[in-house]
Amino acid sequence: MKPKSTIVNLPVYQPGKPIEEVKKEFGLNDVVKLASNENPYGSSPRVKDAILAELDNISIYPDGSSASLTAAVGKDLGVNSNQIIFGCGSDEIIALITRAFFVPGDETIMADQTFSVYKSNADIEGAISIEVPLKDGTHDLDAMLAATTDRTKIIWICNPNNPTGTIVSEQALISFLDAVPSNIMVVLDEAYCEYVTDPTYPNSLNILSKYANLVILRTFSKIYGLASLRIGYGVGHPEVIKLINQVREPFNTSRIGQAAAKVALEDQEYVNYCREHNTRGISYLQGEFDRLGLAYFPAHGNFIMVNVDRAGLEVFQELIQLGVIVRAGHQRYPEYIRVSVGTQAQNVVFIKALEQVLRAESAHV
Ligand SMILES: Cc1ncc(COP(=O)(O)O)c(C=O)c1O
Repeated sequence: MKPKSTIVNLPVYQPGKPIEEVKKEFGLNDVVKLASNENPYGSSPRVKDAILAELDNISIYPDGSSASLTAAVGKDLGVNSNQIIFGCGSDEIIALITRAFFVPGDETIMADQTFSVYKSNADIEGAISIEVPLKDGTHDLDAMLAATTDRTKIIWICNPNNPTGTIVSEQALISFLDAVPSNIMVVLDEAYCEYVTDPTYPNSLNILSKYANLVILRTFSKIYGLASLRIGYGVGHPEVIKLINQVREPFNTSRIGQAAAKVALEDQEYVNYCREHNTRGISYLQGEFDRLGLAYFPAHGNFIMVNVDRAGLEVFQELIQLGVIVRAGHQRYPEYIRVSVGTQAQNVVFIKALEQVLRAESAHV
């Protein structure tokens, strides 16, 4: 059997280590996972009842078009239903976009340290990824624009950027969109937008009608706390959404996921609660990093990337032995770790463990 040549050397995606695996491997009773930017408070308390109510219907296929959820999200965002597409997480929307638009040899532009799923899907479709260096951890929109050619098909902007947590401002985004040729799609991944409190952050939905080549990605996996139910979505021009829909599998989101997302969306009080606690968590962690003399990128999502001044992968390994799972191994930033903002209790456990790891290291020097 001969696979597609583009996938032969493709690495398998490595998610954050599961808690149970770490407990077993290191003989630990308590493990704190701050590795996958999940919501440490879980989902809205209303979600449970919505799921239970849906259990009687699990033998029936879901509504493939997610009509009821689409209407609810459309109303919330102020866009029409034909401008929204739901997927098995926004991961799937990324895959569908690449499936619908790339042919081998197309070029696509992204930051050199950003969400890896853009490049892996581009690779699968035989598109060539042009990775533009971040500037101070932030998308360098001028350099990304300068990297466009007549073969460029899609530009990916992750805002806030995973893993650095930095944002591009509304002004910078608008100048960029004004300059990008209209035949190039700009995908604006806003997986963490609900966490952002910075007033310069773009209101992308307000500008969407001006740019037919703009597609916004959002998800219920982060602040809505529904990561395991796999509901993400794309918002864009009806023609573009129609094309993406044409390559979507018929039943790509579940009944339970749709029902849970709908009630989670209604509970904005809970979303506000999570945002406020996340903001406090960021202040606490940044304060502790200052105390420890560690540099970090300004965090706008629910995670922080901090410079631990030695191999991030080593610190990752030592933290895991103390029962704290973070992320490391970022090619562009080998001395950084990325930590998700947890509950205050989890953040304290993380800081204690980090201090212990770093103190042990300085005692060795
Ligand atoms: C920037 C970004 N985009 C998209 C996703 C995918 O989220 P999901 O597929 O759970 O909606 C993630 C998940 O971590 C992410 O960090």
